[in-house]
Amino acid sequence: MSFYICSNCGYGSASWIGKCPDCGQWNSLKQQQGFDKKTNQPTQDFELTPLSRIKSSTEKKLATGVYEFDRVIGGGFFPSSVTLLTGEPGIGKSTLLLQILKNFKTLYVSGEEGAEQIKQRLNRLKIKDDNLDFSNTQQIESIIKGISKNHKHYQIVVIDSIQTIYSNKIEGTAGSISQLRETTSQLITFAKNTNTPVILIGHVTKEGEIAGPKTLEHMVDIVLSFEGEKVSHFRILRTPKNRFGSTDEIGIFEMTSLGLSQVKNPLAFIDDEKSSAPGMSIVGVTEGKRPIFFEIQTLLSPTILAIPRRVAKGIDYNKILLLLAVLRKYYGFPLDKYDIYINVVGGVSIKSTAAELGIVASLISSFKNKSVKNNTVFIGEIGLLGETRKVVFEEKIISEARRLGFKNIYSSKNIKNIKELKNVFSS
Ligand code: TYD
Ligand code: MG
Repeated sequence: MSFYICSNCGYGSASWIGKCPDCGQWNSLKQQQGFDKKTNQPTQDFELTPLSRIKSSTEKKLATGVYEFDRVIGGGFFPSSVTLLTGEPGIGKSTLLLQILKNFKTLYVSGEEGAEQIKQRLNRLKIKDDNLDFSNTQQIESIIKGISKNHKHYQIVVIDSIQTIYSNKIEGTAGSISQLRETTSQLITFAKNTNTPVILIGHVTKEGEIAGPKTLEHMVDIVLSFEGEKVSHFRILRTPKNRFGSTDEIGIFEMTSLGLSQVKNPLAFIDDEKSSAPGMSIVGVTEGKRPIFFEIQTLLSPTILAIPRRVAKGIDYNKILLLLAVLRKYYGFPLDKYDIYINVVGGVSIKSTAAELGIVASLISSFKNKSVKNNTVFIGEIGLLGETRKVVFEEKIISEARRLGFKNIYSSKNIKNIKELKNVFSS
Protein backbone atom coordinates (compact mmCIF):
# COMPACT_ATOMS: atom_id res chain seq x y z
CA MET A 1 0.00 0.00 0.00
CA SER A 2 1.22 3.49 -0.76
CA PHE A 3 0.45 6.67 1.04
CA TYR A 4 0.40 10.20 -0.31
CA ILE A 5 0.90 13.46 1.60
CA CYS A 6 0.12 16.95 0.33
CA SER A 7 3.34 18.96 0.36
CA ASN A 8 1.40 22.15 0.93
CA CYS A 9 -0.88 21.34 3.85
CA GLY A 10 0.03 17.83 5.01
CA TYR A 11 -3.29 16.21 3.98
CA GLY A 12 -2.93 12.41 3.74
CA SER A 13 -4.56 10.09 1.20
CA ALA A 14 -4.30 6.39 0.33
CA SER A 15 -4.40 7.16 -3.39
CA TRP A 16 -2.92 9.84 -5.55
CA ILE A 17 -5.22 12.77 -6.31
CA GLY A 18 -4.46 15.63 -8.69
CA LYS A 19 -5.94 18.33 -6.52
CA CYS A 20 -5.63 18.32 -2.74
CA PRO A 21 -9.18 18.16 -1.30
CA ASP A 22 -8.04 20.04 1.80
CA CYS A 23 -6.12 23.07 0.53
CA GLY A 24 -7.01 23.01 -3.16
CA GLN A 25 -3.40 22.91 -4.39
CA TRP A 26 -2.77 21.08 -7.69
CA ASN A 27 -0.15 18.35 -8.07
CA SER A 28 0.97 18.63 -4.47
CA LEU A 29 0.42 15.01 -3.32
CA LYS A 30 3.72 13.14 -3.03
CA GLN A 31 4.30 9.50 -2.19
CA GLN A 32 5.20 9.06 1.44
CA GLN A 33 8.52 7.55 2.55
CA GLY A 34 8.21 4.91 5.23
CA PHE A 35 7.07 1.94 3.18
CA ASP A 36 9.50 -0.14 1.19
CA LYS A 37 8.09 0.28 -2.29
CA LYS A 38 9.09 -3.21 -3.49
CA THR A 39 7.98 -5.37 -0.58
CA ASN A 40 5.35 -3.05 0.88
CA GLN A 41 6.92 -3.67 4.29
CA PRO A 42 7.37 -1.01 6.95
CA THR A 43 10.93 0.28 7.10
CA GLN A 44 10.92 1.11 10.80
CA ASP A 45 11.33 -1.58 13.46
CA PHE A 46 8.75 -1.80 16.21
CA GLU A 47 10.22 -0.91 19.62
CA LEU A 48 8.88 -1.78 23.03
CA THR A 49 9.99 -0.26 26.35
CA PRO A 50 8.72 -1.48 29.74
CA LEU A 51 8.24 1.76 31.69
CA SER A 52 9.56 0.13 34.86
CA ARG A 53 13.00 0.21 33.31
CA ILE A 54 12.90 3.93 32.76
CA LYS A 55 14.65 5.96 35.43
CA SER A 56 12.78 9.14 36.35
CA SER A 57 14.67 12.14 35.22
CA THR A 58 16.45 13.83 38.06
CA GLU A 59 17.58 16.67 35.87
CA LYS A 60 16.56 20.03 37.13
CA LYS A 61 14.39 22.52 35.36
CA LEU A 62 16.16 25.57 34.05
CA ALA A 63 14.67 28.52 35.94
CA THR A 64 15.13 31.93 34.34
CA GLY A 65 14.89 33.83 37.61
CA VAL A 66 12.14 36.02 36.17
CA TYR A 67 9.30 35.17 38.53
CA GLU A 68 6.46 36.24 36.20
CA PHE A 69 7.84 33.90 33.54
CA ASP A 70 8.95 30.90 35.58
CA ARG A 71 5.60 30.64 37.33
CA VAL A 72 3.78 30.46 34.01
CA ILE A 73 5.89 27.66 32.53
CA GLY A 74 5.85 25.63 35.74
CA GLY A 75 9.15 26.48 37.38
CA GLY A 76 11.54 26.60 34.45
CA PHE A 77 12.43 24.93 31.17
CA PHE A 78 12.45 21.16 31.39
CA PRO A 79 15.47 19.61 29.62
CA SER A 80 14.48 18.43 26.12
CA SER A 81 11.24 20.44 26.20
CA VAL A 82 9.99 22.32 23.17
CA THR A 83 8.12 25.56 23.82
CA LEU A 84 6.13 27.53 21.26
CA LEU A 85 5.85 31.24 22.05
CA THR A 86 3.08 32.83 20.01
CA GLY A 87 1.82 36.37 19.69
CA GLU A 88 1.15 39.13 17.22
CA PRO A 89 4.12 40.66 15.41
CA GLY A 90 5.60 43.49 17.45
CA ILE A 91 4.03 42.48 20.76
CA GLY A 92 7.44 41.83 22.35
CA LYS A 93 8.28 38.13 21.90
CA SER A 94 11.92 38.63 20.90
CA THR A 95 12.40 41.20 23.65
CA LEU A 96 10.94 38.85 26.24
CA LEU A 97 13.24 35.97 25.28
CA LEU A 98 16.39 38.08 25.12
CA GLN A 99 15.61 39.34 28.60
CA ILE A 100 14.69 36.10 30.33
CA LEU A 101 17.51 34.07 28.77
CA LYS A 102 20.29 36.50 29.55
CA ASN A 103 21.91 34.22 32.12
CA PHE A 104 21.95 31.13 29.91
CA LYS A 105 24.39 30.17 27.21
CA THR A 106 21.94 30.64 24.35
CA LEU A 107 21.99 30.05 20.62
CA TYR A 108 19.67 32.54 18.95
CA VAL A 109 18.73 31.56 15.40
CA SER A 110 16.92 34.40 13.72
CA GLY A 111 15.61 34.72 10.24
CA GLU A 112 13.82 37.87 11.32
CA GLU A 113 16.69 40.10 12.36
CA GLY A 114 20.42 40.38 11.68
CA ALA A 115 23.26 40.05 14.19
CA GLU A 116 23.69 43.78 14.36
CA GLN A 117 20.04 44.42 15.12
CA ILE A 118 20.11 41.86 17.93
CA LYS A 119 23.29 43.40 19.30
CA GLN A 120 21.72 46.85 19.25
CA ARG A 121 18.71 45.54 21.06
CA LEU A 122 20.88 43.91 23.74
CA ASN A 123 22.64 47.24 24.23
CA ARG A 124 19.35 48.99 24.56
CA LEU A 125 18.12 46.44 27.08
CA LYS A 126 21.46 46.69 28.91
CA ILE A 127 22.10 42.96 28.60
CA LYS A 128 25.67 41.75 28.23
CA ASP A 129 26.29 39.83 25.02
CA ASP A 130 28.81 37.17 26.06
CA ASN A 131 26.15 34.49 26.67
CA LEU A 132 24.54 34.78 23.26
CA ASP A 133 25.59 33.28 19.94
CA PHE A 134 23.70 34.28 16.84
CA SER A 135 22.94 32.47 13.59
CA ASN A 136 21.16 33.70 10.52
CA THR A 137 20.92 30.24 8.88
CA GLN A 138 17.44 29.31 7.77
CA GLN A 139 17.71 25.73 6.48
CA ILE A 140 16.78 23.42 9.33
CA GLU A 141 19.11 20.57 8.29
CA SER A 142 22.05 22.95 8.34
CA ILE A 143 21.01 24.47 11.69
CA ILE A 144 20.70 21.07 13.33
CA LYS A 145 23.97 19.80 11.87
CA GLY A 146 25.63 22.97 13.09
CA ILE A 147 24.36 22.81 16.66
CA SER A 148 24.54 19.04 17.07
CA LYS A 149 28.36 19.29 16.87
CA ASN A 150 28.60 21.43 19.99
CA HIS A 151 25.15 21.28 21.53
CA LYS A 152 26.65 20.80 25.00
CA HIS A 153 27.88 24.33 24.65
CA TYR A 154 24.32 25.68 24.68
CA GLN A 155 21.79 25.53 27.50
CA ILE A 156 18.96 26.66 25.28
CA VAL A 157 18.21 27.16 21.58
CA VAL A 158 15.82 29.82 20.25
CA ILE A 159 14.32 29.84 16.76
CA ASP A 160 12.96 33.30 15.83
CA SER A 161 10.67 32.63 14.07
CA ILE A 162 9.59 29.14 12.99
CA GLN A 163 7.94 30.79 9.97
CA THR A 164 11.34 31.79 8.55
CA ILE A 165 12.90 28.30 8.73
CA TYR A 166 12.60 25.70 5.96
CA SER A 167 13.56 22.09 5.29
CA ASN A 168 15.12 20.89 2.05
CA LYS A 169 13.05 17.70 2.33
CA ILE A 170 9.80 19.50 1.65
CA GLU A 171 8.51 21.53 -1.20
CA GLY A 172 6.64 24.69 -0.37
CA THR A 173 7.87 27.98 0.97
CA ALA A 174 8.96 28.70 4.53
CA GLY A 175 5.91 29.27 6.69
CA SER A 176 3.61 26.86 4.82
CA ILE A 177 1.92 24.30 7.03
CA SER A 178 3.98 21.37 5.80
CA GLN A 179 7.21 23.35 6.32
CA LEU A 180 6.11 24.40 9.80
CA ARG A 181 5.40 20.78 10.70
CA GLU A 182 8.60 19.36 9.24
CA THR A 183 10.95 21.94 10.74
CA THR A 184 9.23 21.68 14.12
CA SER A 185 9.39 17.91 14.08
CA GLN A 186 13.15 18.00 13.33
CA LEU A 187 13.66 20.44 16.19
CA ILE A 188 11.65 18.23 18.55
CA THR A 189 13.89 15.27 17.64
CA PHE A 190 16.95 17.47 18.24
CA ALA A 191 15.63 18.54 21.65
CA LYS A 192 14.90 14.97 22.73
CA ASN A 193 18.23 13.61 21.45
CA THR A 194 20.38 16.27 23.06
CA ASN A 195 18.30 17.18 26.14
CA THR A 196 18.41 20.81 25.07
CA PRO A 197 15.31 22.95 25.57
CA VAL A 198 14.20 24.61 22.34
CA ILE A 199 11.97 27.69 22.10
CA LEU A 200 10.16 28.43 18.87
CA ILE A 201 8.68 31.84 18.19
CA GLY A 202 5.51 31.80 16.09
CA HIS A 203 3.78 34.90 14.78
CA VAL A 204 0.04 34.78 15.04
CA THR A 205 -2.21 37.37 13.53
CA LYS A 206 -5.83 37.66 14.60
CA GLU A 207 -7.01 36.56 11.14
CA GLY A 208 -4.45 33.82 10.48
CA GLU A 209 -4.72 31.95 13.71
CA ILE A 210 -5.94 28.70 12.21
CA ALA A 211 -3.44 28.23 9.42
CA GLY A 212 -0.27 29.29 11.21
CA PRO A 213 1.54 28.08 14.32
CA LYS A 214 -1.76 26.87 15.78
CA THR A 215 -1.20 23.71 13.74
CA LEU A 216 1.96 23.08 15.80
CA GLU A 217 0.29 23.17 19.19
CA HIS A 218 -0.25 19.43 19.40
CA MET A 219 3.44 18.74 18.66
CA VAL A 220 5.15 20.88 21.29
CA ASP A 221 5.27 20.51 25.09
CA ILE A 222 4.39 24.05 26.06
CA VAL A 223 2.43 26.72 24.23
CA LEU A 224 2.81 30.26 25.51
CA SER A 225 0.79 33.15 24.17
CA PHE A 226 1.90 36.71 24.66
CA GLU A 227 -1.06 39.07 24.51
CA GLY A 228 -1.87 42.74 24.72
CA GLU A 229 -2.79 45.70 22.61
CA LYS A 230 0.18 47.48 21.09
CA VAL A 231 -1.28 50.82 22.19
CA SER A 232 -1.23 49.68 25.80
CA HIS A 233 1.97 48.91 27.67
CA PHE A 234 0.68 45.85 29.45
CA ARG A 235 1.39 42.34 28.23
CA ILE A 236 -0.03 39.10 29.58
CA LEU A 237 1.67 35.74 29.16
CA ARG A 238 -0.66 32.75 29.17
CA THR A 239 -0.13 28.98 28.80
CA PRO A 240 -2.85 27.37 26.67
CA LYS A 241 -0.90 24.10 26.93
CA ASN A 242 1.69 22.86 29.41
CA ARG A 243 2.88 19.27 29.73
CA PHE A 244 4.91 20.16 32.82
CA GLY A 245 2.63 22.35 34.89
CA SER A 246 -0.62 24.17 35.32
CA THR A 247 -2.25 26.09 32.49
CA ASP A 248 -3.97 28.74 34.52
CA GLU A 249 -1.09 30.86 35.73
CA ILE A 250 -0.47 34.15 33.95
CA GLY A 251 2.53 36.44 33.91
CA ILE A 252 2.08 40.19 33.67
CA PHE A 253 4.62 42.52 32.12
CA GLU A 254 4.82 46.14 31.13
CA MET A 255 6.72 47.34 28.05
CA THR A 256 9.01 50.22 29.02
CA SER A 257 11.82 52.03 27.26
CA LEU A 258 14.14 49.50 28.90
CA GLY A 259 12.21 46.45 27.73
CA LEU A 260 9.69 44.40 29.66
CA SER A 261 9.37 44.78 33.40
CA GLN A 262 7.43 42.47 35.71
CA VAL A 263 4.14 43.72 37.11
CA LYS A 264 3.40 42.51 40.63
CA ASN A 265 0.90 45.11 41.86
CA PRO A 266 -2.68 43.68 41.65
CA LEU A 267 -3.98 47.22 41.05
CA ALA A 268 -1.62 47.91 38.13
CA PHE A 269 -4.49 48.04 35.62
CA ILE A 270 -6.52 50.55 37.58
CA ASP A 271 -5.85 54.28 37.42
CA ASP A 272 -7.88 55.34 40.41
CA GLU A 273 -9.71 52.79 42.51
CA LYS A 274 -11.20 55.42 44.81
CA SER A 275 -13.53 57.30 42.48
CA SER A 276 -16.18 56.21 40.04
CA ALA A 277 -18.14 57.44 37.01
CA PRO A 278 -21.31 56.24 35.26
CA GLY A 279 -20.59 53.05 33.29
CA MET A 280 -17.51 52.16 35.27
CA SER A 281 -16.92 49.32 37.72
CA ILE A 282 -13.98 47.52 39.27
CA VAL A 283 -13.89 43.72 39.29
CA GLY A 284 -11.76 41.37 41.34
CA VAL A 285 -10.82 38.08 39.69
CA THR A 286 -8.09 35.48 39.95
CA GLU A 287 -5.79 34.66 37.12
CA GLY A 288 -4.05 31.48 38.15
CA LYS A 289 -3.86 31.66 41.89
CA ARG A 290 -3.30 35.39 42.17
CA PRO A 291 -6.02 37.98 42.76
CA ILE A 292 -6.00 40.89 40.34
CA PHE A 293 -8.29 43.85 39.72
CA PHE A 294 -9.53 45.32 36.46
CA GLU A 295 -11.64 48.28 35.46
CA ILE A 296 -14.66 47.71 33.22
CA GLN A 297 -16.09 50.57 31.19
CA THR A 298 -19.46 50.49 29.48
CA LEU A 299 -21.02 52.96 27.13
CA LEU A 300 -24.65 52.85 26.02
CA SER A 301 -25.59 55.06 23.14
CA PRO A 302 -29.03 55.27 21.42
CA THR A 303 -28.89 53.23 18.24
CA ILE A 304 -30.04 54.07 14.74
CA LEU A 305 -29.53 50.51 13.56
CA ALA A 306 -32.14 47.77 13.17
CA ILE A 307 -29.74 45.37 14.87
CA PRO A 308 -27.97 47.33 17.58
CA ARG A 309 -24.22 47.14 17.82
CA ARG A 310 -22.48 45.19 20.60
CA VAL A 311 -18.75 45.68 20.88
CA ALA A 312 -16.74 43.89 23.54
CA LYS A 313 -13.02 44.38 24.02
CA GLY A 314 -11.23 42.10 26.46
CA ILE A 315 -14.38 40.12 27.31
CA ASP A 316 -15.86 37.20 25.44
CA TYR A 317 -18.57 38.43 23.05
CA ASN A 318 -20.97 35.58 23.81
CA LYS A 319 -20.64 36.22 27.52
CA ILE A 320 -21.80 39.80 26.91
CA LEU A 321 -24.82 38.60 24.92
CA LEU A 322 -25.72 36.24 27.74
CA LEU A 323 -25.41 38.91 30.42
CA LEU A 324 -27.50 41.31 28.33
CA ALA A 325 -30.23 38.68 28.03
CA VAL A 326 -30.25 38.15 31.80
CA LEU A 327 -30.34 41.89 32.38
CA ARG A 328 -33.22 42.36 29.95
CA LYS A 329 -35.21 39.65 31.65
CA TYR A 330 -34.70 40.71 35.28
CA TYR A 331 -34.55 44.47 34.88
CA GLY A 332 -36.69 44.89 31.77
CA PHE A 333 -34.30 47.48 30.34
CA PRO A 334 -35.01 48.29 26.66
CA LEU A 335 -31.44 47.45 25.73
CA ASP A 336 -32.41 46.90 22.08
CA LYS A 337 -32.58 50.66 21.71
CA TYR A 338 -28.89 51.07 22.47
CA ASP A 339 -25.54 50.32 20.93
CA ILE A 340 -23.41 48.88 23.70
CA TYR A 341 -19.65 49.13 24.00
CA ILE A 342 -17.79 47.32 26.79
CA ASN A 343 -14.08 47.55 27.39
CA VAL A 344 -11.51 46.28 29.86
CA VAL A 345 -9.10 49.12 30.60
CA GLY A 346 -5.46 48.41 29.79
CA GLY A 347 -5.96 46.46 26.57
CA VAL A 348 -6.02 43.11 28.35
CA SER A 349 -8.59 40.36 28.28
CA ILE A 350 -10.30 38.75 31.26
CA LYS A 351 -10.98 35.03 31.09
CA SER A 352 -12.32 34.62 34.63
CA THR A 353 -16.08 34.36 35.18
CA ALA A 354 -15.66 36.37 38.40
CA ALA A 355 -15.92 39.58 36.37
CA GLU A 356 -19.58 39.02 35.44
CA LEU A 357 -21.20 40.72 38.44
CA GLY A 358 -19.11 43.83 37.79
CA ILE A 359 -19.92 43.82 34.08
CA VAL A 360 -23.63 43.77 34.88
CA ALA A 361 -23.13 46.56 37.44
CA SER A 362 -21.35 48.71 34.85
CA LEU A 363 -24.19 48.12 32.36
CA ILE A 364 -26.82 49.15 34.89
CA SER A 365 -24.68 52.11 35.90
CA SER A 366 -24.45 53.27 32.30
CA PHE A 367 -28.16 52.76 31.69
CA LYS A 368 -29.15 54.69 34.81
CA ASN A 369 -26.35 57.20 34.34
CA LYS A 370 -25.45 56.74 37.99
CA SER A 371 -21.99 55.94 39.33
CA VAL A 372 -21.25 52.92 41.42
CA LYS A 373 -20.36 54.09 44.95
CA ASN A 374 -16.72 55.04 45.36
CA ASN A 375 -14.32 52.37 46.62
CA THR A 376 -16.39 49.45 45.37
CA VAL A 377 -15.31 46.12 43.91
CA PHE A 378 -17.41 43.29 42.43
CA ILE A 379 -16.56 39.59 42.57
CA GLY A 380 -19.03 37.07 41.17
CA GLU A 381 -20.34 34.92 38.38
CA ILE A 382 -23.90 35.41 37.10
CA GLY A 383 -26.22 32.47 36.41
CA LEU A 384 -29.01 32.44 33.83
CA LEU A 385 -31.55 32.94 36.60
CA GLY A 386 -29.92 36.20 37.58
CA GLU A 387 -28.32 34.64 40.66
CA THR A 388 -24.81 35.44 41.81
CA ARG A 389 -22.57 32.41 42.04
CA LYS A 390 -19.55 31.91 44.22
CA VAL A 391 -16.29 31.83 42.29
CA VAL A 392 -13.09 29.89 42.96
CA PHE A 393 -10.81 31.63 45.43
CA GLU A 394 -13.61 34.05 46.36
CA GLU A 395 -12.28 34.38 49.94
CA LYS A 396 -8.82 35.10 48.66
CA ILE A 397 -10.00 37.89 46.35
CA ILE A 398 -12.15 39.38 49.11
CA SER A 399 -9.31 39.48 51.62
CA GLU A 400 -6.95 40.96 49.01
CA ALA A 401 -9.60 43.62 48.22
CA ARG A 402 -9.88 44.42 51.91
CA ARG A 403 -6.12 44.68 52.26
CA LEU A 404 -6.04 47.11 49.33
CA GLY A 405 -8.60 49.33 51.02
CA PHE A 406 -11.84 48.68 49.10
CA LYS A 407 -14.77 49.63 51.35
CA ASN A 408 -17.69 48.05 49.49
CA ILE A 409 -16.99 44.49 48.46
CA TYR A 410 -19.88 42.84 46.60
CA SER A 411 -19.92 39.10 45.96
CA SER A 412 -22.25 36.11 46.26
CA LYS A 413 -22.13 36.73 50.03
CA ASN A 414 -24.09 40.00 49.97
CA ILE A 415 -25.63 40.10 46.47
CA LYS A 416 -27.74 36.99 45.94
CA ASN A 417 -29.37 38.14 42.73
CA ILE A 418 -28.62 40.91 40.24
CA LYS A 419 -31.85 42.62 41.36
CA GLU A 420 -30.04 43.51 44.59
CA LEU A 421 -27.53 45.56 42.60
CA LYS A 422 -29.96 48.49 42.98
CA ASN A 423 -28.22 49.45 46.20
CA VAL A 424 -24.68 49.73 44.91
CA PHE A 425 -25.07 53.10 43.19
CA SER A 426 -24.50 56.49 44.76
CA SER A 427 -27.71 58.45 45.13
P1 TYD B 1 9.64 42.75 19.61
O1 TYD B 1 10.24 42.00 20.74
O2 TYD B 1 10.52 43.01 18.44
O3 TYD B 1 8.31 42.06 19.11
P2 TYD B 1 8.08 40.65 18.37
O4 TYD B 1 9.34 39.87 18.50
O5 TYD B 1 6.92 40.05 19.11
O6 TYD B 1 7.72 40.95 16.97
O7 TYD B 1 9.10 44.12 20.23
C1 TYD B 1 8.66 45.11 19.40
C2 TYD B 1 8.18 46.34 20.07
O8 TYD B 1 8.56 46.53 21.39
C3 TYD B 1 8.72 47.48 19.29
O9 TYD B 1 7.68 48.04 18.55
C4 TYD B 1 9.28 48.45 20.25
C5 TYD B 1 8.92 47.89 21.59
N1 TYD B 1 10.04 47.98 22.53
C6 TYD B 1 9.98 48.89 23.58
O10 TYD B 1 9.00 49.62 23.74
N2 TYD B 1 11.01 48.94 24.47
C7 TYD B 1 12.12 48.17 24.33
O11 TYD B 1 13.05 48.25 25.15
C8 TYD B 1 12.17 47.25 23.24
C9 TYD B 1 13.36 46.37 23.01
C10 TYD B 1 11.12 47.19 22.36
MG1 MG C 1 10.68 39.44 16.91
